[in-house]
Amino acid sequence: MNIDWSSCLEQIQKWQGVYEGKLVVVKFGGALAEDTEIVSNIAKQVDYLQKFVRVRSIVIHGGGKQIDQDLTTAGLEITRDKTTGLRVTDRRTLDVSDRSLRALNGKIVRSFHDTCREIVAVGSAGYDGKTLTAEPCSSELGGYTGHSPMVDSTYLHQLISCTQKPLVPVIYPICWNNAAQDGESRLNVNADDVACALATQMGAVRLIFCADVPGVLDKEGRLISELSPFDVDNLIEEGVVTGGMIAKLKSLGKAGEKMTTGGAVILDGRDPNAILAEILSDSGSGTLVRKDIARIKVVDAPKPK
Ligand SMILES: Nc1ncnc2c1ncn2[C@@H]1O[C@H](COP(=O)(O)OP(=O)(O)OP(=O)(O)O)[C@@H](O)[C@H]1O
Ligand SMILES: [Mg+2]
Repeated sequence: MNIDWSSCLEQIQKWQGVYEGKLVVVKFGGALAEDTEIVSNIAKQVDYLQKFVRVRSIVIHGGGKQIDQDLTTAGLEITRDKTTGLRVTDRRTLDVSDRSLRALNGKIVRSFHDTCREIVAVGSAGYDGKTLTAEPCSSELGGYTGHSPMVDSTYLHQLISCTQKPLVPVIYPICWNNAAQDGESRLNVNADDVACALATQMGAVRLIFCADVPGVLDKEGRLISELSPFDVDNLIEEGVVTGGMIAKLKSLGKAGEKMTTGGAVILDGRDPNAILAEILSDSGSGTLVRKDIARIKVVDAPKPK
């Protein structure tokens, strides 16, 4: 992050005014969640924003890396759909995924409590209290992969508006299936899709994806600092974006299109200040996706940490 110290305070005060009392959704994946220092740094930034800017946060996490390890230990195959990058989830994969994610959720909540003075983290699955429901994908995706998550905001609004103590929901993306036929009501949904649903349906001003890369990289590996939702399909079709970045970029595009204020951003979650830089500086951080951006903007080298 390049800091212009001459206008630092001015920038912070300006952006504090814009964000005060607003909601942000912060998502991070399994690779980052494994590193306790990174989780602790994310917690510190969420805590800072709550304390000094009165920004409320909802945290959502994935756990692709941990699920892959646990599937391998259980002797199960790791299968992803080539077009969407989504995990193919059969009944046994669902059980393993839920166990892995619940264990990780517990570790993240503990890390938030160890780090934060101001906030109390409340861990849950998307299906707890039917907070998040989803639709089953076609049976080729294993029967227990879900899409189109919907948020029942009643419980989440109560949590984030609690006046006695700032509560921060920390959610993992196994959702409730309203149409379950076989008594199994859980669906495995990509955490990026759930983050997008939370941000757009809860009226957040920013959706922040913390990744293990500086942002969306172009063919030459340069950081794309800004793009419009209309660029998303091209980047996927041209093969610039692959693997887990496909779902992430689609969610960014969807959120960038729907969010009337703010926008969606993917930034380097390994950088201990990236979220604060995104919220409180003019230059922001990582890749911003928003409707009013006319064309892809690239910076020559990944922004320094
Ligand atoms: N053009 C690209 N720019 C940046 N990263 C890319 C690109 N194409 C593919 N990737 C890959 O996408 C990965 C991020 O997606 P991935 O699903 O692995 O992480 P996540 O969504 O943060 O974690 P989880 O799936 O556990 O929630 C990066 O680590 C990178 O290897
Ligand atoms: Mg992913």
